[in-house]
Amino acid sequence: MTVNKSNNPGEMTIILAGATGDLGGRIAQSLLNRGAHVRAVIRPGSGNGEVSALRKQGASIVEVDYNDPSALTQACKGGACVVSALSGLYEVIVKVQTSLLNAAVEAGVPRFIPSDYAIDFTKLPGGTNRNLDLRREFREHLEEAPISATSILNGMFTELLNGQAPVILFWLKKVVYWGDADQPLDFTTIDDTAAFTAAAALDPSTPRDLRIAGDVVSARGLKVVASKVTGKEFSLFRAGGLKGFDTLIKMTRTLSPKSEAVFPPWQGMQYLRDMFSGRPKLKPLDNERYPDIRWTSVYEVLATR
Ligand SMILES: NC(=O)c1ccc[n+]([C@@H]2O[C@H](COP(=O)([O-])OP(=O)(O)OC[C@H]3O[C@@H](n4cnc5c(N)ncnc54)[C@H](OP(=O)(O)O)[C@@H]3O)[C@@H](O)[C@H]2O)c1
Repeated sequence: MTVNKSNNPGEMTIILAGATGDLGGRIAQSLLNRGAHVRAVIRPGSGNGEVSALRKQGASIVEVDYNDPSALTQACKGGACVVSALSGLYEVIVKVQTSLLNAAVEAGVPRFIPSDYAIDFTKLPGGTNRNLDLRREFREHLEEAPISATSILNGMFTELLNGQAPVILFWLKKVVYWGDADQPLDFTTIDDTAAFTAAAALDPSTPRDLRIAGDVVSARGLKVVASKVTGKEFSLFRAGGLKGFDTLIKMTRTLSPKSEAVFPPWQGMQYLRDMFSGRPKLKPLDNERYPDIRWTSVYEVLATR
């Protein structure tokens, strides 16, 4: 069995699952920028466009059926770290990632980075945030495995403030919040998360958790930034307290049609409710660990819309 012991990126192969996805594609690029070899583990039928883009970037592609343990183990051989950027529900976050973990152990890969990329769910009570519960469940498998694991915790992707997250309502010039307008919130861009994950994948001595935030801004701070970026005066709108938010989430979930969507509206609401509660606030931050990474501010992201 070949075990990669070099600390030189040029001699390191990183096994990347989810490379055809948004975050995964950027992790691949960041790893290649750092001189590493990237082996993208792609499931059969993955998008041709994404696969050829990865190939053009310089990644090697291995098409593997994730239900075939020996093929998956073969795909992991010689890797210095397995990085997962898979996205999905139980089937993916628990089942597929467990197959990947077993293959990494069997292949003798020393390190594993799971597809966490979230607020600090280790501080949240179970049963309150569906997608983060799945990460907690996978974390239990990871703790038992004979492999060194590192989770990257990055808060919310900053880009969501430009649309998907119902926080900055540009057309109404309002910043909506629940609970406390001064609660600090963690934001990191997708590119910055990818750059940090790539650096961590190539760093043999990472701790169990690495916490990053490209910017930390409260709802009141978002009001100031949105006003500055647009040149228009924004105001704060308190939608209610956290208990009221809880009730609204339960009602929305009950009334929503059952679906396999990874991010239905009530899931985004659970995420926001947790952020406004302050419980999963990331601290201490590991932003300085790789000094070459320049963090993108909320201002810079809002300015791109
Ligand atoms: N903190 C935040 O605000 C935030 C926001 C968004 C996402 N995230 C997290 O970031 C991570 C990556 O998300 P993303 O947006 O980059 O996801 P994405 O673009 O949807 O990509 C998902 C990747 O997973 C692969 N995949 C899905 N189901 C699979 C299966 N059954 N077997 C094998 N591969 C499978 C896809 O492969 P195919 O190309 O073959 O489909 C693709 O490569 C996730 O952990 C997600 O929760 C965090």
